[in-house]
Amino acid sequence: MSTQDSILQHDSLIKYLTAFRHELHRFPELSNQEHATTARIREQLAKYDIRVLDLPLTTGLVAEVGASDGPLIVLRSDIDALPIEEQSGVEYVSEHPGVMHACGHDFHASAALGAAILLKQQEASLPGRVRILFQAAEETGQGAPDLIATGALDGAAGIFGIHNDPTLPLGVVGSKAGPLTAAVDRFEIKINAVGTHAARPHDGNDPIIIAGQIIGAVQTLISRNAPSGDNAVVSITQVHSGSTWNVIPDSAWLEGTVRSFSQSTRELIERRFRQIVQGIAAAFDAQIDFNWQAGPPSVVNDAEWAEFALKQADASGLQSRVVEASPIGEDFAFYQQQLPGAFMMIGTGEPYPLHHPAFRVNDAALFPTSRYLAELATAALAKVSGK
Ligand code: NI
Repeated sequence: MSTQDSILQHDSLIKYLTAFRHELHRFPELSNQEHATTARIREQLAKYDIRVLDLPLTTGLVAEVGASDGPLIVLRSDIDALPIEEQSGVEYVSEHPGVMHACGHDFHASAALGAAILLKQQEASLPGRVRILFQAAEETGQGAPDLIATGALDGAAGIFGIHNDPTLPLGVVGSKAGPLTAAVDRFEIKINAVGTHAARPHDGNDPIIIAGQIIGAVQTLISRNAPSGDNAVVSITQVHSGSTWNVIPDSAWLEGTVRSFSQSTRELIERRFRQIVQGIAAAFDAQIDFNWQAGPPSVVNDAEWAEFALKQADASGLQSRVVEASPIGEDFAFYQQQLPGAFMMIGTGEPYPLHHPAFRVNDAALFPTSRYLAELATAALAKVSGK
């Protein structure tokens, strides 16, 4: 193929992928409801004669390129959207009221589709197989465990995943060895007390005072419990109690999240949190229900694959950068409990953060990300097959 042909071919692939991303963006679907999204991806893979594995998945799918045996490398994308009313102002704005691709999973899926197409073009020379995950339900943290349960990752030598990052400049790929994202846990506290007339507090057991004690005491979970070198966050994000001015209510309800980077700190915070809540319950003679919902663990990058992926970014015409860990959550972490892998942030240089109603992705990052993923998978296969 001449250079001119190759440029023309890339040019049409760029247009095709951009149009596909805009289509996904217009029709976003929430976690585990990605039926039309899955059908759209399946249709495009069929056009390029890319096989799809027969797996017991309701939404999401796994494509495969390469020989039917040999070493296996996995690329992961996600496909679900968020319950947010879009205010981005793009032409291809969401046509599903109250649902928006505000985390750019439309970008990830389109980039992965592009990688699958590029890998298909050189299928005969691939020293093994590449599986491309179009994973459902990342936002609930359940998509990755569901996919692992199908056995789609069995025998793989490594897995690579990406997330767009508006805070990094366009063309930059950020990653690091070790923890990259935080473990995400959610807590709920229900205080059951005795309500009374506001003028006669001695007849009751004010849950608002108890909530105040809890709110104050949990501030010490990080500052006086977690090791100073180990970052963590505790945020109480909802407090509800009472309904009028002259009644002390009989209950209060609090909710929030804990973010941590090491398993030991994660366990320490949960244990101390329970002790503080139960201690306050005893001190105020109230009954408190403490509900802890463990979410995805921290994304912990394999040092060798992280370095390999950063080097490949430079080799693929992008610019690698070692970044700080970020307290966002990402269920890619579950894959890394099964096999070594690396997660990379793809710079898009956009003004609004992830999950913001005005969030946008820069389409200029799309094709370079596809090419990067395809080249990364090819290089990883060459490495594990010793070629
Ligand atoms: Ni996301």
